[in-house]
Amino acid sequence: MMKQITFIGTGYVGLVSGAGISDFGHKVVCADIDDKKIDALQNGEIPIYEPGLKEIVDRNVNAGRLSFTSDVDGAIQAAEVIFIAVGTPQSDNGEADLSAVKAVAKTIGRNLNGYKIVCTKSTVPIGTGEMVRSIIDGENTTENQFDYVSNPEFLREGSAVKDFLWPDRVVIGTETEKAFDILKDVYRPLYINETPMIHTNVKTAEMIKYASNAFLALKISYINEIANLCEAVDADVHIVAKTMGIDGRISPKFLHPGPGYGGSCFPKDTHALATIAEKEGSPLKTIEAAIVTNDSQKVRMVNKLRTLTGGFKGKTIAVLGLAFKPQTDDVRESASVTMLEFLTEEGANVNAYDPIAAENMKQKFPNVTYVPSWEEAVSNADGMVIMTEWNEFRGLNLDTLKSLMKTPTVLDTRNILSPTALKKAGFMFDNVGRPNGSKTL
Ligand code: UDX
Repeated sequence: MMKQITFIGTGYVGLVSGAGISDFGHKVVCADIDDKKIDALQNGEIPIYEPGLKEIVDRNVNAGRLSFTSDVDGAIQAAEVIFIAVGTPQSDNGEADLSAVKAVAKTIGRNLNGYKIVCTKSTVPIGTGEMVRSIIDGENTTENQFDYVSNPEFLREGSAVKDFLWPDRVVIGTETEKAFDILKDVYRPLYINETPMIHTNVKTAEMIKYASNAFLALKISYINEIANLCEAVDADVHIVAKTMGIDGRISPKFLHPGPGYGGSCFPKDTHALATIAEKEGSPLKTIEAAIVTNDSQKVRMVNKLRTLTGGFKGKTIAVLGLAFKPQTDDVRESASVTMLEFLTEEGANVNAYDPIAAENMKQKFPNVTYVPSWEEAVSNADGMVIMTEWNEFRGLNLDTLKSLMKTPTVLDTRNILSPTALKKAGFMFDNVGRPNGSKTL
C-alpha cells in the first residue's frame, strides 16, 4: 500500500534513501532546513556526486512521487512515516553530535497531528531511540501516539543507490508489531525479493550498525598491519589477502590494504563506539587499536613518500586522487588530507589531481595547485603518489609517466600498479605490503 513518507535531512543518507523509497512506489517528501539545498533540489540539481542518484531522483520527481520542501513542519504533518536522516558528526570528545537529531525530534513532537512512525536512519549511539522518544513525548501536547523505529542504513558512498535498492539486509528495530508491519510495507519490494528483514528491538538495531561498521574498519586495519609486516618479511600481502579470503569465514571483501580508511562513517563510528564502550565500562580494545592503527597508517604513507623522494622541501610532488575512495567527491577524513598536511607543511610544491573531488579539497587546502589531468600533475615532478584507486590511474601508461616526471619516483598507496612493471620501467617505487617496493631498490 502506498504510503506518505517524509525524510528529514537531504544528505547522502536522506537523499538516497528518500529517492529509493519513492522508487518503491511511495509518495516521499524530502525536507531540510537548508533553503539553498532545497532550492537546488527543486531545480533538479543534486548537491552531492553519487552515481545514479540524478536518474532516480528525476524519474521519481517526474512520476510525482518525490518532492522537496523546506517546510519541515508541514512535511511532518503530512506524513505517516517520518525518517530522521540528519547528520551526526563527531564532536570534540569523540561522541556523536546529536544536536540535529534532538532538534528534529522536537519539531516532530510539536507537529504530531495523528499516529505516526518515527524512524531513525542516521547512525546514532545506542540509547538514542529512548532519548528521541522522550523528546517527542515532552513536546507533544496532543493525545496522538507514535511508534519509534531504528532502521540503520548500510549504504556506501559511490554505490549508495545500488546499495539502497539491493541491500544485503534491512534492519528494523522496534518494540511493536504494528510498526514492524508498516516498515515491512515501506520496504515491500525488497520483502517480496526475500531480502532478509531483521526485526529486533531498538537498542539491538542501533548496536548492529556500529558493530558492523567498526568490524569492517577493524578488518581494514588488520590487513594494513599484515601488509606492513609483509614489507618487513618480504611477503606479498595481495596473495596473503586473496588466499585468506577464499576461506568463507573470512571473505575477501574489505581486505584490501591501503593508506588507511577515511570517509564520513568509519572514522566517526569507530570513535563513537569506542567512547560508548569506555563509558559503559566495557572497553573495546580491538576497536581502539584499529583507530590507532588507521591514524598511523596515514602517517606511514607520508613517511614512505618522504623516504622515496629524500625530503619534501622545494620538491614538486604530484598527488593523484583526493577522495577517500573512488566514485565520490567526498574528502572527509581522506588519507590524502594527512598527505597534503605534511607535504604543504614541509614545503613541497603540490600538484593535485582528482577527477571530481578537487573542489572539496580546495576548501581545506587553498594553496595546493589543482590541475585538470594526471599528466599535468606529474609533469616535471620529483615524486608522485596515488592516494585513490580511480580507474584512470589503474591504466596509466608508465612510459608516458616516466617521460613526464623529472624523477621517476612513485608511491602507490592503493597497490594498483604492477611492481614488476614499475621495476622494469626503471621507477623508484613503494607500495603497501608488496615485494619489490623500496626495500628492494
Ligand atoms: C561505509 C560502509 O561500508 C557502509 O556500510 C556504511 O553505511 C558507511 O560506511 P563508505 O564510508 O561509503 O561506507 O565507504 P567504504 O567503501 O566502506 O570505504 C571506507 C574506507 O575504507 C575508504 O577509505 C576505503 O578506501 C577504505 N577501504 C575499504 C580500504 O582501505 N580497504 C578495503 O578493503 C575497503
